[in-house]
Amino acid sequence: MAYDVQRIRDEFPSLSVTDEGTPRIYLDNPGGTQICQRAIDRMNDYLVNANTNTHGPFRTSHLTDELINETHAALADFVGADDPGEIIFGQNMTTITLHLARSIAHTLEPGDEIVVTRMDHDANVSPWLLMARDVGATVKWIDFDPATYRYDPSSVDEAITSRTKFVAVNYASNAIGTVNDVAMVAQKAHAVGALVFVDAVQYAPHFLMDVHAIGCDFLACSPYKFYGPHQGMAWGRRRLLESLSPYKVRPADDTLPSRWETGTQSHEGMAATLGAIEHFEWMGREMGAGGATRRDRLVSGFSVLAEYERELGKYLIDGLLSIPGVTIHGLTAEADLSDRVPTIGMVKEGSDPDAMAEKLAAANIFVWPGHYYAIEVIERLGLTAKGGMLRIGLGQYNTHAEVDALLNLLDD
Ligand SMILES: Cc1ncc(COP(=O)(O)O)c(C=O)c1O
Repeated sequence: MAYDVQRIRDEFPSLSVTDEGTPRIYLDNPGGTQICQRAIDRMNDYLVNANTNTHGPFRTSHLTDELINETHAALADFVGADDPGEIIFGQNMTTITLHLARSIAHTLEPGDEIVVTRMDHDANVSPWLLMARDVGATVKWIDFDPATYRYDPSSVDEAITSRTKFVAVNYASNAIGTVNDVAMVAQKAHAVGALVFVDAVQYAPHFLMDVHAIGCDFLACSPYKFYGPHQGMAWGRRRLLESLSPYKVRPADDTLPSRWETGTQSHEGMAATLGAIEHFEWMGREMGAGGATRRDRLVSGFSVLAEYERELGKYLIDGLLSIPGVTIHGLTAEADLSDRVPTIGMVKEGSDPDAMAEKLAAANIFVWPGHYYAIEVIERLGLTAKGGMLRIGLGQYNTHAEVDALLNLLDD
């Protein structure tokens, strides 16, 4: 059994959509992936057979409660937690993070320090800057080295001090693709008694997470980046989710996870997210070693996926570097490829990222130009005034032929 990209593609109905006969090439995956058939089927099934609100005495409400419980359990397996009550759903990662920040603020005092990084998407920066502003905390920054595209180790040591109470880091960059050693940061932060929040939005589509191995206190990601619906989710340690005080309305259930899931959730979104997790399980069963538990099947699914994406990523990197005038801002050496996701930020001498994206779009090849909210990264690379970078993001259904089509146009 091995990874079979054609079988994967057959699981995504949108891949067969054409525009005036031209197929679409989706290389915009870091901005949002296409949705898999299992997620669509789960959503349809929920809306037809179980659509209502929670905790009622009748059939559809029982089915809704069951679905919500099952989805929390699946997501707990997905992040490596053993407690479904530690999973919180919300509209998107940004909204959940702002929600948590408002509550964590009550644990801080003026003069406390919090740490953010220059490699993050702004969804893991601004919520904490606002929290610091509200309580009079001091903000410290972890920098990255524009020569190595990794956190600058001295900057990590300088940023985390005995006054640090909270540290927010990114698992994988949405601009340069680096996977960071977040376990190392968590260890340093815990040594001074600080809490650690990990943004795993860009890591989750490519590698299986394990919150206990990382040792973080919170982790957030977005199902629409891993072949599911537009939704966000976070994991937090039960002790913290129970002791922090969420902004909630009085009649709403005060137990986990409900106390953090304000108002009526997108139940159909949860159904689709469950379908996305089942898709990864299917990969593990059909293309990998399978396994007795959901977590085992996820481990084997992600292991065959990582191998495929690493090889396809190398093919794209090698192809880009062979084009005159192209610079990739990110790790490119073969030995470093397991420290990155296949999200490639590049510039081409004399070419504007917007214009390149427009040209590719004319051939139905979808990529993002600009800063994609990673404004600190683009600024640190000195690219703000130059229109940022062109971001090419591979997903599980992309092929060598699609990469060739992109390279041919960029080489023009
Ligand atoms: C690394 C990273 N963090 C956070 C976000 C924000 O996620 P959401 O759209 O779910 O709020 C994104 C979205 O692109 C992202 O790439």
